[in-house]
Amino acid sequence: MSFPLYAPAEEHDMLRETVRALADEKIAPRAAEADEAEEFPWDVYKALVASDLHAIHVPEAYGGAGGDALAAVIVIEEVARACASSSLIPAVNKLGTVPIMLSASEELKQQYLPAVARGDAMFSYALSEPEAGSDAAAMKTRAVLDGDHYVLNGTKMWITNAGVSEYYTVMAVTDPSAGARGISAFVVEKSDEGVSFGPKERKLGIKASPTRQVILEDVRIPESRMIGAPGTGFKTALATLDHTRVTIAAQALGIAQGALDYAVGYVKERKQFGKAVADFQGVQFMLADMAMKLEAARQLTYHAAAKSERAMKGEPQKDLTFLSSAAKCAASDAAMEITVDAVQMLGGYGYTKDFPVERMMRDAKITQIYEGTNQIQRMVMARQLLK
Ligand code: CAA
Repeated sequence: MSFPLYAPAEEHDMLRETVRALADEKIAPRAAEADEAEEFPWDVYKALVASDLHAIHVPEAYGGAGGDALAAVIVIEEVARACASSSLIPAVNKLGTVPIMLSASEELKQQYLPAVARGDAMFSYALSEPEAGSDAAAMKTRAVLDGDHYVLNGTKMWITNAGVSEYYTVMAVTDPSAGARGISAFVVEKSDEGVSFGPKERKLGIKASPTRQVILEDVRIPESRMIGAPGTGFKTALATLDHTRVTIAAQALGIAQGALDYAVGYVKERKQFGKAVADFQGVQFMLADMAMKLEAARQLTYHAAAKSERAMKGEPQKDLTFLSSAAKCAASDAAMEITVDAVQMLGGYGYTKDFPVERMMRDAKITQIYEGTNQIQRMVMARQLLK
């Protein structure tokens, strides 16, 4: 599959229809029980792989579908409309592999990208630590060169899809005297000796996507598994987020769209005071505001996706850092407001697990937190404006 760069016209619309049909048939019916059971939905993973939608961003040269950044956004958005946890499959596969696509040797690309493209392995991203969240450069995980191997020790935290992913991009300190310039990026495999996982975090939302610590104890990996040159890991990590904050924006859009669509259907059916709730102007104004905020965030996200695609194709975009933070921040704030309003529109029913807006409201919250809190996004945007 290949998509022209900025033509959101036919190919992207067709892609959206394909993903929506799959999501309606195979993902939406599983969302509530996967959330309740807090279990990774392997059946959804298999369905996404069967349709080549689990990692659409992987270039054709590595056996992937070669979808552009907007295609990845559309896939994530449509999957998230049905199930936010499941949308982390395409999103985190992208997050884990963008460091490789941006900075790794050809050998490493050949070694890891085809397995992800085939659906044989998922790829997670390990930057945060218990004491290094927003201040990511304060990480303590160490990688020490020993002959032609690196030995890694440390604990990575909040790692999405940890345990179910086969591969991990791990940022670790190789030169403690050099600050952010002393951090390097590596590929660590789940099967490497010394890799283990903490218990699943007990979370408010995205419960069907495991979030765990990745614990590294004397993990010995070949030097060739370093992504890029020594000391470039932090830059690679941040450059990656410039692309993938757009995918979190997409997830937020999808959650919000799911909640809005459900609320619209509900208020047309629900009758109070002898007429449909949708006939009350107060409700109509709420709906209009929800849709307006969502569409504004969507346009910003698609614009950021176009910039992301150009940058990926080797045309640096000066405003990508600003736009990806702006899109992530705007879309996640919109998703939080829209899902809260959707719950409100359903009244008491909205507050129960019998209706999906309750889950969507819980799921929306994480989009304001991960891949950099929205406070960090505002900091990033302000730095871009003032530099
Ligand atoms: N691209 C490339 N390089 C960049 C960059 C970018 N967007 N932004 C900064 N850099 C470079 C800088 O130029 C600098 O390099 P030099 O010293 O060579 O000039 C280096 O990186 C350090 O930059 P800063 O001094 O600006 O770094 P900082 O320590 O002040 O931190 C920060 C910057 C923006 C706060 C960053 O730490 C940050 O984004 N924090 C949030 C962390 C985060 O987003 N974590 C998400 C975890 S992943 C996740 O959540 C995934 C999931 O579960 C799904």
